[in-house]
Amino acid sequence: MATRHERSVSPPPALITGYYADPAARLSHARDLFNRTARLYDPVNRLFSLGSGAWYRRRSLRQAGLRPGFRVVDVAVGTGLLAHEVLALTGDRRAIIGIDVSEAMLAVAQKNLRIPLVQGAAEALPLADDIADFVTMGYALRHVADLVATFREARRVLRPKGTLLLLEISTPRRWLTRILASGYIGSLVPLLSRLMTRDPRARALLRYHWETIMSSAPPETIMQAMHDSGFRDVECRTELDLFRCYIGRKA
Ligand SMILES: C[S@@+](CC[C@H](N)C(=O)[O-])C[C@H]1O[C@@H](n2cnc3c(N)ncnc32)[C@H](O)[C@@H]1O
Repeated sequence: MATRHERSVSPPPALITGYYADPAARLSHARDLFNRTARLYDPVNRLFSLGSGAWYRRRSLRQAGLRPGFRVVDVAVGTGLLAHEVLALTGDRRAIIGIDVSEAMLAVAQKNLRIPLVQGAAEALPLADDIADFVTMGYALRHVADLVATFREARRVLRPKGTLLLLEISTPRRWLTRILASGYIGSLVPLLSRLMTRDPRARALLRYHWETIMSSAPPETIMQAMHDSGFRDVECRTELDLFRCYIGRKA
């Protein structure tokens, strides 16, 4: 019998040339990259984030309906930047679980937040069915190997009428935004990060971020995959032609 993963019908993600030879290696590549750069993530993110900082994360969660008392699974929790805002709104450390494939990112999250954390992949969550009111995922959609498998897993762990909230930066549509974003995110931020941290891995991390942004799935593909995975009232709010917030409800 096919596993949940094998039944998925997502188009394969674009290869990020020069990093790995086939899409199946995406997960191990992401894990290695974030393991190597975990301690650089927070300082680099402060420089990189533009409008995607704490206030944007918190406002998106609030607008999607997150309230005290809700149970939340934060997939790809990283160092805990989105989980920190979840906590600010729900106020209960025991009501959020963070999942990430990188043990080094989880170690930083443990220091930052002291919430329950489990190592695992978005495409095969190590969690029971129907346990969450919200599943969140911040800036990691570009790294997953299979959109439909990821969304089906989110749906499985959500209770009926639960909410999936995704934050992502994706390829700008307008040429002017592309040029500005390419100059800032693609060149200036990697250079400044290298100078600020004095660590060449910071530049490599930021270059990879830019390349994943430019090769990311278009919003229509993401929304269709959410719909195909059983989400309803799917919407995408875009700001500055760059920051996208996807919301869907479990039917
Ligand atoms: C850019 S960080 C985002 C962290 C955090 N959500 C935030 O808002 O800052 C991306 C995270 O996704 C994790 N990741 C990448 N691919 C993953 C996958 N397939 N399953 C789970 N985590 C994954 C990485 O280890 C990394 O910690």
